[in-house]
Amino acid sequence: MSKPRIQAAVAAGYAAAKGAKGGKNADYIPFLASVPSDLLGVCVVTTDGCIFKSGDSDHAFAIESISKVFTLALVMETIGVEAVREKIGADPTGLPFNSVLALELHQGKPLSPLVNAGAIATASLVPGSDSEARWAAILECQRRFAGHPIALSPEVNDSEQATNFHNRAIGWLLYSAGSCFCDPLCAVDIYTRQCSTLITTVDLAVMGATLAAGGVNPLTGERVVADVHTAPILAEMMMEGLYTASGDWAYTVGLPGKSGVGGGIVAVVPGQMAIAAFSPPLDEAGNSVRGQVAVATIARELGCNLF
Ligand code: DON
Repeated sequence: MSKPRIQAAVAAGYAAAKGAKGGKNADYIPFLASVPSDLLGVCVVTTDGCIFKSGDSDHAFAIESISKVFTLALVMETIGVEAVREKIGADPTGLPFNSVLALELHQGKPLSPLVNAGAIATASLVPGSDSEARWAAILECQRRFAGHPIALSPEVNDSEQATNFHNRAIGWLLYSAGSCFCDPLCAVDIYTRQCSTLITTVDLAVMGATLAAGGVNPLTGERVVADVHTAPILAEMMMEGLYTASGDWAYTVGLPGKSGVGGGIVAVVPGQMAIAAFSPPLDEAGNSVRGQVAVATIARELGCNLF
């Protein structure tokens, strides 16, 4: 695909998103409520390492739920695809990302590593003898995906740790059902930290492009995840990446994606590129309103629907 064509699509995606209205910053985490709502970043990174960006694409924001994808990759590398499927599951829940009901309906099995319960269970499978060792493994994994060191925001983390009672309850429910594989509060602690790192829209596109490139970071050339693991990760993203809106997203955009309540969203075009955007106001499902418009517009302009 020619560079001018991609650059034009990024400009079109930015313009369409700029004009889109609606949504509201997440406010259940105090830090997220305070981020300026008008920030908008858009970026495409191709599997051959070209970067196309527009707007506030270098503004750092909280990775939030998008981190679930990378911790899943880390755990898949450690215990294998089948063990992940057996211990956590691989199906959409059809319920909100923090649903306790979804757990109750399935005997405490979370079903998907991309909802909170499944992500806390996934965090409990990260290798390491204690919280700090597990946390170091997660940070190292995010670094490899982004191609440079990624840091925790103490401000975001403090804000999240002070308000994550619902997730702690999920941790204990998982534990009681045999679906949490370390101390539940340790699992929730490192899950909360993994959500509290800061990335830019460019970082997010590089992280997605690493999956698009079969697990090799296109900027550093480093293999981050085995080629055979990228397909099940992308399948999860297709089924659950945008929570209860994942079906609509597959129907209309046709790409595996992942969003976070920090306002980030990324879609992966296997073999070609990743399309990322950042804009804080969210819809009811917890997905960035303008981010979805930006990514969907770029995907449409470039004819990327997989189906
Ligand atoms: O678990 C939480 O509440 C957050 N730290 C992350 C949730 C999230 O990003 C869900 N997203 N759309």
